[in-house]
Amino acid sequence: MMKTVNASRITMNELVMPNETNPLGNLMGGQLLKWMDICSAIAAQKHSNRTVVTVAVDSVEFKSAIKLGEVVIIEGEVTRAFTTSMEVHMQVWAENLRTGSRRLCTTSFYTFVAVDADGNPVPVPQIQPETEYEKFQFEAAVERRKMRLEMAKKTEEAMLKR
Ligand SMILES: CC(C)(COP(=O)(O)OP(=O)(O)OC[C@H]1O[C@@H](n2cnc3c(N)ncnc32)[C@H](O)[C@@H]1OP(=O)(O)O)[C@@H](O)C(=O)NCCC(=O)NCCS
Repeated sequence: MMKTVNASRITMNELVMPNETNPLGNLMGGQLLKWMDICSAIAAQKHSNRTVVTVAVDSVEFKSAIKLGEVVIIEGEVTRAFTTSMEVHMQVWAENLRTGSRRLCTTSFYTFVAVDADGNPVPVPQIQPETEYEKFQFEAAVERRKMRLEMAKKTEEAMLKR
């Protein structure tokens, strides 16, 4: 079964509140990672119509602080599905509602695995990329997945040395 990227594309909006900021009045990194996890999990669940679990989170660089009272806009899309796993790409924007200006704050990829009621991985529908950009991300996802699996293997080997 094939599904388009568009069919599970998600836009999530969050208003930054005082209990989500540090003493400088900036959004805490961990809070943003949580919102990104929720946004990308919704996209993966919408694509697979299954419960999903987060299996990998790629690096996230916080390039621009997001201030108290700004709106965080997270756009998530499934770039590629493999057998039981799905890669979701996100772009995170901050919008100042008084000026209407919007800036890109970070991007990342999270990977999810679809599971059954016992937590066992189950197959997911494939992605049918449509636009040039979707086709580019679809192809590039193979190399990214390879790097993640290699990194996980190296980390495990290093842990076993302790
Ligand atoms: C995710 C989980 C179900 C995978 O189970 P598993 O028995 O290890 O299954 P597999 O080794 O067959 O891997 C399943 C898929 O995950 C992928 N995967 C595993 N580790 C990965 C990693 N580090 N990065 C990317 N993909 C990974 C595999 O490539 C495979 O994908 P595919 O079926 O599309 O080829 C299991 O590891 C788990 O439950 N982890 C905890 C998830 C969780 O609690 N997340 C919240 C964080 S606290």
